[in-house]
Formats: sequence, C-alpha cells, structure tokens
Amino acid sequence: MNEIQVENQVDKVVMPDNLKVGLMVAEQRKKCASGGCTEEFYGLGFGQSPFHVLPVLSKALAESAEKGHYSAAEGILELRIAISDFNKRHFGLDVDPNRIVIGPGTKDIINTLFGIIKGDVIIPSPSWIGYRPQIHLLNKHFHTFFLKPQHDYKIQPDEFEEFVSKLHDEQHILVLNNPHNPTGALYTKQELEDLANVCRKHNVLVLADEIYALDTYDFSQFTSMGTIYPEGTFVTNGLSKDRSAGGYRLGSCILPTTSATKIASDYKKVAATVYTNVSTPIQYAAIKAYEANQEIDQYIAITRDIHRIMGAYLSEEWNNIDGIITTKPKGAFYFYADFNQLEPDLKRKNVMTSNQLGESLLSCPFHIAVVTGDACMLEPDNFGARIAFVDYDGKSTYDDYKNNKPKTPSDEIEFVKRNAPMIVKSTESLKEWVKFIKSN
Ligand SMILES: Cc1ncc(COP(=O)(O)O)c(C=O)c1O
Repeated sequence: MNEIQVENQVDKVVMPDNLKVGLMVAEQRKKCASGGCTEEFYGLGFGQSPFHVLPVLSKALAESAEKGHYSAAEGILELRIAISDFNKRHFGLDVDPNRIVIGPGTKDIINTLFGIIKGDVIIPSPSWIGYRPQIHLLNKHFHTFFLKPQHDYKIQPDEFEEFVSKLHDEQHILVLNNPHNPTGALYTKQELEDLANVCRKHNVLVLADEIYALDTYDFSQFTSMGTIYPEGTFVTNGLSKDRSAGGYRLGSCILPTTSATKIASDYKKVAATVYTNVSTPIQYAAIKAYEANQEIDQYIAITRDIHRIMGAYLSEEWNNIDGIITTKPKGAFYFYADFNQLEPDLKRKNVMTSNQLGESLLSCPFHIAVVTGDACMLEPDNFGARIAFVDYDGKSTYDDYKNNKPKTPSDEIEFVKRNAPMIVKSTESLKEWVKFIKSN
C-alpha cells in the first residue's frame, strides 16, 4: 500500500511546543541515565497550574456523573447563567446569558472563532504558543505585530494604528492576551481604552484572551476589554488556570454586543456539527466553579499570591545574571527571558536560533526546560525563552501559605526556598550554563 497522505496544512503544523519540550526532556533524561548522570531537571516549560482541584469541584463532578445525555451545543442554560453572574461579580461585566457560549476549553473556542469570524488575524509577538498553529490548520491569513521590550511588550496604540492602516480595510481580528503569556504584562484601563479607539476606527475586532484575568497579582488593576469595547470584543476565559482544572476542558466566551444573536447561532451550528456539546457532566459540575463560593474565592486569592511570590523571586534572580534580561510579571505564571546580550557567545558555541538555545539549556548537565521564543512567534534568531515558574508541589505550597502566610519580602524568599527548591536551584544551573556559553 502507498504511504497515507495527509493534507498540506497538517504537515505545516508541528507538535505544540509545550508537548515537544516534554518529549525532549524525556529523551534527555534517558540519555543522561544511560551515562550515569543523576542531575535533576528544571521543568520551566510546561505552563500548567500546579495546584489541586478543589474538592467542591471534584465532588460536583462525581455527583453529575449520571448526566449522560447530550446537551445544548452552546452550553446548558444553568451554567451560562452562573458564568454571567460570575462575570458581573469579578469583572463588572453585564452579560445576558444568551451572549455566552461554552466550549471544551478556551483553546477550542479560539479555534472555532478563528474559523467563524471573517478576516485576517493580528497576533502580537511574543505570544502564547497556541494561536499560530490553529491559524495554519485553518489556512487563515495572519499578521505578526512585534511587541517591544521598551514598552513592556504591550501594544502601543499609535504604532498599532500605523500597522493596521497599512493592511486592507476589511475586518481584522486582534488577539489581545491580558495578562500576557509569555511576558506577564498587564494593560491598564487607559491603555485598553486607547487601543479600543484604534480598533473602532479601523474595523478591528478583539479576541480578548483573559484566561489569566483572576491570576492578576493586584487584581484591582485588571480591566476586562469586554467592559471597554463590548461591541467588538470576544472575551474568552475558563477553568484551566485560576481554578487549576485544565483537564476538565471547559471554557466560555462572551460574544460582542454587535450581531450577538447571529454569531451565537453560528457558533452553536459549528459546535453542534463538530463536537455536539461539551461533556454534560463537566458542564453541570462547572456550575459550582462559577457560583459564589467563599472557598473558591479564597483559593483564587491564595494561588494568585503564590504565583506573584514565585514570579517576583525567579524573574529577579535570573535578571541578576549577566547577559539575561527578564520581564517582571504582573499576572499569570510566566516571564520572558531575553538572552540577546549573549548573542556573540551563543554564536561562537554554534547556538544560532532560539530553538538551539532551548536545546543548549536542556543539555547535560544544565537540564533547564523552557519554551523557546520561536514557539512564541519571535523571529527564529531572536534569543528568547518563556519561563513558566510552576515547578513545585502545589498542594503542600498552598497549605504552607495558609498556615504560615509570608508577611515581609524576606518571608517571601524563605517561602520560596522552603517550597520550591527546583525554582531556587534553576538559577544556579543557569549561572553554570552562562559560564559555559562564555567560556572558550
Ligand atoms: C494564553 C492562553 N490562552 C489560552 C489557553 C488555553 O486554555 P484552555 O485550557 O482553556 O484551553 C492557554 C493555556 O495554556 C493560555 O496560556
């Protein structure tokens, strides 16, 4: 039989980089083990919340196991009502449940929206690793808008206006991830308002990926784009990050006020065609995750503060290393590390791309796993990496925070040392790697 052929766009898509890093680590581990190396590996690649799923959610899931029937493609009404109330409580968003649709994770919702909404997509770079492969699979056009370190990797409205003015004048979709994976940047209300004005003027819709909204360290500083530009914004969010239930695969989207009925019906049509509905037991269980609940609120507040402490510690430690510049995250659990100052040394060691930088960091004996700038849509020769600071035991760290809440900056450092030895030791390994890169 001939080799089985696949469509061209599938060949264009590579294995998602967070998974690729996992495979690379497994391979390196094997190599090391056969050579007798017992050094540990630093897992700074995979961006998963390290915390436990709250019993209130797992219990609700067990209790809804008998809900084995098919359900509404756009999501059951009880859940959409709970999500509407949740958005009012946390983000001041007034949303009719008919403007809310549910999907199997926000990744799938974003993919579905890219498929439904006409127009080229504008992706700021660096970006989350998930958008570009979806656009390739859909054979859709996109434009890369490069973010600048001197602007904290945030879109400057005047530069954005110049950028969109040069594109054709039909509808576009801007992906706005706030707080931002991979830099941890956060937009102020004023910045969002200025950006919304440009979007209104140039017929740009916004896909506001706000999956890390409740992981904004100073939550009073978070504004949802849905409150600023309701007529043109799709707001996506879900259970994966602040409630640590990525495997539940449940996300939601608030549709723009413009054409809401038509878009809701198109969304429903596509969802019903492709996957029928999100798992019904998960939808019933998720009602609990969105209903007012003190325990969940406390969990979100504690976990976001632990992210702040870990991020502040590690980004500063790495930034203190000669040749490396890091961002200072204001939300989520990533920072971006810029290695470009080391370019001459890297090239001397035959490290020509950020992917090779990733391989070098992972090589023995350094063992530091990161997601490379290339995966985040930077130019391949831009030496950058995304650092996910979640390599610690979430449950015991959570309990320690509850029992001995750190009160001062030195308490916070002690807290990191006590709970996250791999985070602490990664800096030592990175220093050794820099020494190696600079050596002759
Ligand atoms: C910026 C961003 N958007 C979306 C997602 C996807 O989240 P979900 O688990 O809801 O599909 C992630 C997950 O890593 C993310 O980092």
